[in-house]
Formats: sequence, C-alpha cells, structure tokens
Amino acid sequence: MPGRIAIAALAVGLAGAAAAGDDGPVPEPEPIGTMSELMIKLMYPASDAILYVESRAPTNEVEWNELQAQALILAESANLIMMPSRVVGDRDEWMRDARLMFDAGAAAYEAALEHDLDALIALNEQVYMSCVVCHRRTRPDYGRNYKRFEDPPAEAVPPAGEEGRLP
Ligand code: HEC
Repeated sequence: MPGRIAIAALAVGLAGAAAAGDDGPVPEPEPIGTMSELMIKLMYPASDAILYVESRAPTNEVEWNELQAQALILAESANLIMMPSRVVGDRDEWMRDARLMFDAGAAAYEAALEHDLDALIALNEQVYMSCVVCHRRTRPDYGRNYKRFEDPPAEAVPPAGEEGRLP
C-alpha cells in the first residue's frame, strides 16, 4: 500500500517540521533593507507607477496585474516602515505619516483591482502628498535630529519631461 506509506511519511515529516519550529526564540520581524533602500527600491517605483498612470495606462491584463502589484507594494511598504525598529523620530508622528501612505496605497490597490483608471488618476495627489508630508517633517530645518534625505539617485529619477513631481 504505497499510498499509506506516503501518508505516514508525510505525517512524520510534518511532525519533524513542527518540532524544529519549536526550537529557539519565536521569530520576530527583522529589517533587511535600510530606510533609504526601502524608499528607493520599493516606494519610489511603486508610487511612480501610480503617479504616471495616465501616461503609462495598462492596456492588457498582464499590465493591470503589474500595476496592482505596485499599488500593493506601496500600501504594504507602509506596514514595513511601521515596524518598531524602523520608526524614525517621534513614534506617533511617524505612524500617522506612514498611515497616509498606507491609505493612499490601499485606495490605489482597490482602484487597480477594479481597472479604474480615473480613480487611479484622481489618487495621484493623495499618493504624492503621503510622501511629501513625512519628508517635510524629516528635514533638519524643521529641527529634527535625523538627516534630510538627499535628492533621489539617478536611477530613481523619472525620464526626461516627467520631472517636477519628485516627492
Ligand atoms: C513615514 C515617513 C516617510 C514616508 C511616508 C515616505 N518617506 Fe521617503 N524617506 C523617509 C526618510 C526618513 C528618508 C531618509 C532615509 C535615509 O536617508 O536614511 C526618506 C528618503 C526617501 C528617498 C531618498 C532615499 C535616498 O537615500 O536617496 C526617496 C527617493 C524617498 N524617500 C521616496 C519616498 C516616496 C516616493 C514616498 C511616498 C510614496 C515616501 N518616500 C514616503 C521617510 C518617509
């Protein structure tokens, strides 16, 4: 009865995996990228996908899927920067600022799921402001004790003709 043997082996395997998982401290979320890396590699391209949606409107299901993924990255990135070890400066202010990006990203994700181009275009301002509010607050001129971010690196700058909307 090879079927039975396979099921028994599977059960033993699962029990082994569960036992291994019980060893040591319970895992906690742990940062991999720096704040700067998250901004450049996740938030920046994800928000660009929304900010330039009018000129890069999806034309097929594959492109809509890609846009949905970018909107989801934007929304979930807010959760990543809300991790306790990532909070910069005053926690309450940080969490409220990050929540603006969460709300903008979540709304964009909903709109992308519904293939609602007009709604995405209408969300541009909200997405843009969600970056600006936190960035304004993080400038040293505002008396904060962390450094102002530099201008975005070359690879993060939009193609010629589309400048002027950098958060
Ligand atoms: C809750 C606060 C917060 C929000 C929201 C936020 N940022 Fe940032 N951002 C920061 C901080 C803090 C830095 C400085 C990081 C560093 O250099 O350590 C930064 C830096 C950056 C940089 C420069 C990174 C570098 O090293 O050159 C870019 C680009 C950037 N953010 C893009 C965005 C975009 C796009 C959004 C919105 C979709 C956004 N950020 C939303 C806090 C935020």
